[in-house]
Amino acid sequence: MPPDLAILGIETSCDETAAAVIRRHADGRGEILANVVLSQIADHAPYGGVVPEIAARAHVEHLDRIIARAMEEAGMAYADLDGIAAAAGPGLIGGLMVGLVTAKAIALATAKPLLAINHLEAHALTPRLLGPLGFPYLLLLVSGGHTQVQSVAGVGHYHRLGTTIDDALGEAFDKTAKLLGLPYPGGPEVEKRARNGDPARFDFPRPLAGRPDCHFSFSGLKTAVREAIAALPGMTDADIADICASFERAIADTMRERVGVALRRFRQMHPGLARPTLVVAGGVAANQALKFALTELCAEHDFALNVPPPALCTDNAAMIAWAGAERLALGLIDPLEAPARPRWPLDASAEPAPGAGVKA
Ligand code: KG4
Ligand code: ZN
Repeated sequence: MPPDLAILGIETSCDETAAAVIRRHADGRGEILANVVLSQIADHAPYGGVVPEIAARAHVEHLDRIIARAMEEAGMAYADLDGIAAAAGPGLIGGLMVGLVTAKAIALATAKPLLAINHLEAHALTPRLLGPLGFPYLLLLVSGGHTQVQSVAGVGHYHRLGTTIDDALGEAFDKTAKLLGLPYPGGPEVEKRARNGDPARFDFPRPLAGRPDCHFSFSGLKTAVREAIAALPGMTDADIADICASFERAIADTMRERVGVALRRFRQMHPGLARPTLVVAGGVAANQALKFALTELCAEHDFALNVPPPALCTDNAAMIAWAGAERLALGLIDPLEAPARPRWPLDASAEPAPGAGVKA
């Protein structure tokens, strides 16, 4: 059994500058000792999306202080750590380099192992930080950059069942919000407006419904929203609410149908599992309409639904530190030459989805 491991984690792959310290107890239990996240949303909001150069500069400016705060909150000295973990990809290259180079410097200065973490693997393993969860399980990752279903067979062992062939789900929320003149990030704002709207007023498409695979597509939905707006004489608050509600209903229906295919596939792959688990991670996991649809779907298919709390679904460094601990416990450490990787699929053997653009 590996000993207790204390790990510093660093996350700078997008627009959060984050540092955390976690402990992995010898019995596999996780404990968060400090989890500090500085969101750059205010820096990017005027531009309606994340500006890579602004993000990288903000990481440089804030990361040292955020790490010092995490170490202080955890009551730790560098000598107490067993490893230094940083997100090495996928993500924005400038930000990744800031976090990874910082982790390398700390690892070199303290002679501790470096753990160069795949950000998607960190999302995938988060539920195991929070409680016991054995392999295999099914992962639905829905964020601003990714929409994927993966079968998680073990640390480092992933099999992709589906991915988006165009926009990510969070991106669809953000682009719809932009079309409606709502602020960035759009997801929470669309959800708020949808509460007062009529979900039956606009008949938006349910992309890819009925297809036997588990892929996703959201760009047509965004186009349908654009056309609906163009057909209105002007846009009142009531129109905005109705569009948001109809859009959310279309998303919920689509995800129920598409993820349903993945649940059936996963059962066929693992006929021996009595009640498999669906884990949902990424910022869009905070969406209540989606959570409701997935709760119903899992009940129908006798799956357990595991959705970490929003602060651990959105980007954070506790998940990076935990993935580092899981890998270190297996003896999987990285050399100081480990590169930052803007593209780094979890399942390197997965074929591009049919008709997919570059992001899939
Ligand atoms: O995982 P995340 O914090 O960052 C990455 O993209 O890696 O996800 C952010 C995305 C954004 O697109 C945001 O609009 C979306 O998650 N999001 C939501 C909600 N909260 C965040 N989408 C729908 N409903 C929400 N409540
Ligand atoms: Zn993420």
